[in-house]
Amino acid sequence: MTALLEARNLTRHFRLARDGLFGPRPVLHAVDGVDLAIAPGEALGLVGESGCGKSTLARLLARLLDPTWGQVFLDGRDITRDSAARFARTAQRRAIQMVFQDPAESLDPLMTAFELIAEPARLLSGPMPRTALRGRVEDAAGAAGLAADLLARLPHQLSEGQRARVGIARALVVGPRLLVLDEPASALDVSVQASVLRLLDRLRREQGVALLFVSHDLNVVRLLCQRIAVMYLGQIVETGPAADIWENPKHPYTRALLSAVPRLPGDGAPPVTLEGEPQGPVDPPPSRCRLAGRCFMEQPRCRTEAPELRNLACGRAVRCHFVE
Ligand SMILES: Nc1ncnc2c1ncn2[C@@H]1O[C@H](COP(=O)(O)OP(=O)(O)O)[C@@H](O)[C@H]1O
Ligand SMILES: [Mg+2]
Repeated sequence: MTALLEARNLTRHFRLARDGLFGPRPVLHAVDGVDLAIAPGEALGLVGESGCGKSTLARLLARLLDPTWGQVFLDGRDITRDSAARFARTAQRRAIQMVFQDPAESLDPLMTAFELIAEPARLLSGPMPRTALRGRVEDAAGAAGLAADLLARLPHQLSEGQRARVGIARALVVGPRLLVLDEPASALDVSVQASVLRLLDRLRREQGVALLFVSHDLNVVRLLCQRIAVMYLGQIVETGPAADIWENPKHPYTRALLSAVPRLPGDGAPPVTLEGEPQGPVDPPPSRCRLAGRCFMEQPRCRTEAPELRNLACGRAVRCHFVE
């Protein structure tokens, strides 16, 4: 089956300012050689600690940011040949839509909910009769769980949850096949969060919209996503079916991450923890595992050879020399 979206060796480096007058400028490896595929109608969860590159990867996949190198394929076609700025003017732009983290900040306070939802439809779908536009906006609002009588309101006249739904309706109005959600619920109240997550799950099941769901909350990702990708310092360290990773995490970083999630007593493996501080994303040594120095499974080889992401059985892959 062709993936809906596929990343190959996707990389984004940021060149930083030089420390002194001489020498090379340090390079921050925000996203480093990511291979990842999202199937049509699938929910993929992207997890990892703050600063590991989740938002940068999400923006690369949504073609809002240009990669340093590597490619993104939509239906098998390379969409990184055009710059992000050019891609924004193509018909394919509609297939991938990003929902931004903080709906209150990303919504123009002077536009009504109707105008806010109509705006991307006008920009991306071209001119259309007023009645057709109204129909599209009402459908998108309905799919996002926003009652029609709220469409005349300004953002400050809406609740937090209603504003989040306006943000989702703005993405849905152009008929996307993939929604990229960067920590969509983290700014929201817990009960609002749950209802937004239920809405997203329903959209996927009923309309077949694929989801790339970025979160640091493994519990949320486990419930919503079929598959999980775990990131550490710009790289994917483990991918696989969500239930399998939850039951039996293999990479030492994933094990530590899961160990930190509160579970029922007597459930799962004994807790594992990582020592020390992460190495940091600036000029990482190329011949060394990025977890070296923190890892409870470390061997001498981890400091002389960087592990590749290796495929295991059952759709799992792990970046570690010592996981069989
Ligand atoms: N425009 C930029 N310039 C320099 N560094 C950046 C830029 N954007 C992100 N970074 C760095 O890239 C790394 C990954 O950031 P980000 O993708 O926001 O991680 P996450 O979303 O997982 O918290 C961080 O070290 C961050 O400081
Ligand atoms: Mg982020």
